[in-house]
Amino acid sequence: MHDPKIFRSMHKDRFQAEPAIFVGPGRVNLIGEHTDYAEGFVMPAAINFCTLAGISPRTDGKIAIYSENQGEEKVFDGVQAARSQHWTDYPMGVTAILAGVGYTIPGFNLSIWSDVPLSSGLSSSAALEVATALAVLSLVDAEVPGPRLARLCQRAENEFVGANCGIMDQFISLNAKKDHALLLDCRDLSFKLAPIPDSVALVIANTMVKHSVAGGDYPTRRRESEAGCAVIARHRPGVPFLRDATLDDLVQWGQEMEPKSYLRAKHVIGENLRTVAACEALLQGNMKELGRLMAEAHRSYSQDFEGSCPEADAMVELAQGLPGLIGARLTGGGFGGCTINLVEQKEAAAFAQALGARYAEKTGIAPQIHICHASGGAHRLE
Ligand code: GLA
Repeated sequence: MHDPKIFRSMHKDRFQAEPAIFVGPGRVNLIGEHTDYAEGFVMPAAINFCTLAGISPRTDGKIAIYSENQGEEKVFDGVQAARSQHWTDYPMGVTAILAGVGYTIPGFNLSIWSDVPLSSGLSSSAALEVATALAVLSLVDAEVPGPRLARLCQRAENEFVGANCGIMDQFISLNAKKDHALLLDCRDLSFKLAPIPDSVALVIANTMVKHSVAGGDYPTRRRESEAGCAVIARHRPGVPFLRDATLDDLVQWGQEMEPKSYLRAKHVIGENLRTVAACEALLQGNMKELGRLMAEAHRSYSQDFEGSCPEADAMVELAQGLPGLIGARLTGGGFGGCTINLVEQKEAAAFAQALGARYAEKTGIAPQIHICHASGGAHRLE
């Protein structure tokens, strides 16, 4: 996390007022990719990279938003009704959605500073949305339960920003528990916490290939998988989402699908089963099984869902055989970004070093490799 003391004085210098400061963490998904919008299962954890949002009220009704990362401040006359294709769409979108559900939002100054790597599959957008939401709600003295606030932040991204994401990122950023992974049922938002043992490190390896959920590939894959679901639903109307489909449905009606839709649906149906099984394995301390499921999930993500890229496949491949590896796979929206490696803690430093060297040698790209731990959810900094 960036130093909150420096952040506080930045806000004071710029806006001549003491800010209330809120933290929204990024996340890594251990398993369960492109299952959230199919009302299925995901198992993410929040990480120790986060966005800070500092807020102080204004009396003229205006909204000023400053990002230290962008080095830019933008001032609005008040809550905006529509996006402006600018980074401020994320905080403004959250503000607009909160206004839309009935909160009377006064003018404010908002400062943002984040160390979540951008466009890397670690949910920098959700971290920003969630930190902003807590900040804006503090102005009106309101508290919204975590699951409901996650839905509102997701709506900001779907309806205001225009990115068709699911609920996973906003949910984990708000509701994470330190040292735990969280198995989320994206249908009813019920969840189960699974402790991550001290002996296991989360090694996050950034391929440095940028991806964006707002870009074309994510919505294309989403459409393809939903088209597969629609074929099953023609025969079995009780399958509105792939969450409700079985491998048997795929065997029976898979030939009626476009070949791509068949493969996307195959991934999602299998991934739901793997994710629930992975949580059981983690709860039972069966790391071997967890690693096997992660490997299978990566194969499926890469080959059936075609959601990987050569660099991410290389990063996963190069991790194999390194001492301490439990499991490795591409994490997040896909097409670049980071891999998650579960690694025995005592081997983590050597693992990170060796993986970085192997990747640089193979691809000519210097990766960033971070040894992380599972953090708590969004909160106010005292
Ligand atoms: C992005 C989206 C999530 C989820 C993942 C893929 O992170 O924001 O909602 O769909 O991709 O699992």
